[in-house]
Amino acid sequence: MILHDIKIAPSLLSANFANLENDIKKCEKGGADIIHIDVMDGNFVPNLTIGPIVVNAIRPLTKIPLSCHLMINDPGKYIEEFFKAGADSISVHVEGLVHIHRTLNLIKSFGLKAGIALNPATPLNFAYDSADHCDYILLMSVDPGFGGQKFIPTFLRRSEKLRNFLLKNNLDHIEIEVDGGVKFNNVEEIVMAGANILVAGSGLFHGNLIENIRELRKKAENARRQAQLF
Ligand code: DX5
Ligand code: ZN
Repeated sequence: MILHDIKIAPSLLSANFANLENDIKKCEKGGADIIHIDVMDGNFVPNLTIGPIVVNAIRPLTKIPLSCHLMINDPGKYIEEFFKAGADSISVHVEGLVHIHRTLNLIKSFGLKAGIALNPATPLNFAYDSADHCDYILLMSVDPGFGGQKFIPTFLRRSEKLRNFLLKNNLDHIEIEVDGGVKFNNVEEIVMAGANILVAGSGLFHGNLIENIRELRKKAENARRQAQLF
């Protein structure tokens, strides 16, 4: 069984958009592993955020991998632009995406890590049937669109089921990412359920970002050590 490293991924959606550089430097200081960038089109989700132009602007500021979470319709149209802007990994939502394998292959053709994202009530079969084309699977723990929403606890059994499926099918090199409502008080059960890429926005940016990243990692790694005992 592969035990994946815990990766802390602050979501810039909760950052200060008037001074992203300052928050990105704090992410570095706190030891973040990934910077999570939420791209929303006002169509797939009822909110508008940022596009490749912002990814391009922050790319020179840090060496931390940039992960773009595309909450947009027809994501295939924009993969090349995000690659050129400096993304290191891209996840696309399966809901409404007709050619999942083709889109994942397109992401990989640029040398990027590819992920699929599933909303909290999207059947796991979508993940089972395309897992072997993925580097990671993003299980949403809120309906996407906004920061600061409440964690939906069914994530826990979904993540456990998916981790077991990956184990049974020799696919356990694939990482599970959680996104939405991740906080100090639930991160342990989330890790025990098999997720190792931990996206957090409001849980990290409200208060002392540097300290919060370190604290979330500490709790997550404790839980991972406990999980190993079983
Ligand atoms: C929600 C986004 C998340 C969001 C998480 O649609 O995909 O990445 O920033 O924010 P919190 O951690 O505040 O739920
Ligand atoms: Zn996200």
